[in-house]
Amino acid sequence: MVDAVDKVFAGSIPDVYDDYLVPLVFEQYANDLAQRTAALNPRGVLEVAAGSGVVSRAVAAVLESSARYVVTDLNPPMLDRAASMQDDPDRVEWQAADALDLPFDADTFDLMLCQFGAMFFPDRVRAYREARRVLGEGGSFIFNMWDRIEENEFAHEVTRALAEVFPDDPPRFLRRTPHGHFDTTTYRSELEAAGFSDVDIEPVDAISVAADPAVPAIAYCQGTPLRTEIEARYPPSLEEATARATDAIRKRFGDGVIRSRMRGFVITAR
Ligand SMILES: C[S@@+](CC[C@H](N)C(=O)[O-])C[C@H]1O[C@@H](n2cnc3c(N)ncnc32)[C@H](O)[C@@H]1O
Repeated sequence: MVDAVDKVFAGSIPDVYDDYLVPLVFEQYANDLAQRTAALNPRGVLEVAAGSGVVSRAVAAVLESSARYVVTDLNPPMLDRAASMQDDPDRVEWQAADALDLPFDADTFDLMLCQFGAMFFPDRVRAYREARRVLGEGGSFIFNMWDRIEENEFAHEVTRALAEVFPDDPPRFLRRTPHGHFDTTTYRSELEAAGFSDVDIEPVDAISVAADPAVPAIAYCQGTPLRTEIEARYPPSLEEATARATDAIRKRFGDGVIRSRMRGFVITAR
């Protein structure tokens, strides 16, 4: 189940997301998707749920100059941030779009990308059908999903700390949505229901590095829809809740530069 607040990335969220969360957890996976893209040498690429553009920056750097690259997201404030950070924003076609209802003709692209976005779709099979429709024969859909929260230690520690701050009604966004869809059997069955026949699922482990314990706390508490959940539970304030999460991270991982494990799955469907 995706709560209505879970898909709202607006207000201060896009900037904090891009400044804090992207370098912490998204950049390494974006580089992985860019390498997979380069290996396919596609002529037309559609990216959905592109957020603040970490994949767009990595992929634009490896695409042939003649290849078309259309970058979309449900929330225009995320795309605004993405366009403002792109080296050559005119290289990319930016367009607000719901992945469940893509405004493109059938057989328009040969590659569709989606980084850590499908867990936000209220009907994934419908979104995957849309992927299949806009991809031509032989096209590829490459996307990634997070493993369970216990395998993603900074997210897990922040969630545990906030459960102590709000014991009567713990904010559950991270466990429910980004880390709530880790059953690889379901990925396969949903893709097959949408008409994909060849599905490959690969776990990808990485190490998340933060300059200090405040970084993961700010990233998750203020740069994701978790912020909206915390603000709805006031008091304590967003700043106090973030400070409590910082203390918990310091206690578990130490001070100064800290590292933690993360794991995602990269799914390729043809
Ligand atoms: C965790 S962010 C991932 C963003 C980006 N791909 C990245 O790697 O940083 C999830 C994104 O999904 C977008 N989103 C949520 N629901 C969507 C939908 N139905 N269609 C398209 N994008 C959606 C949000 O606006 C947000 O930018």
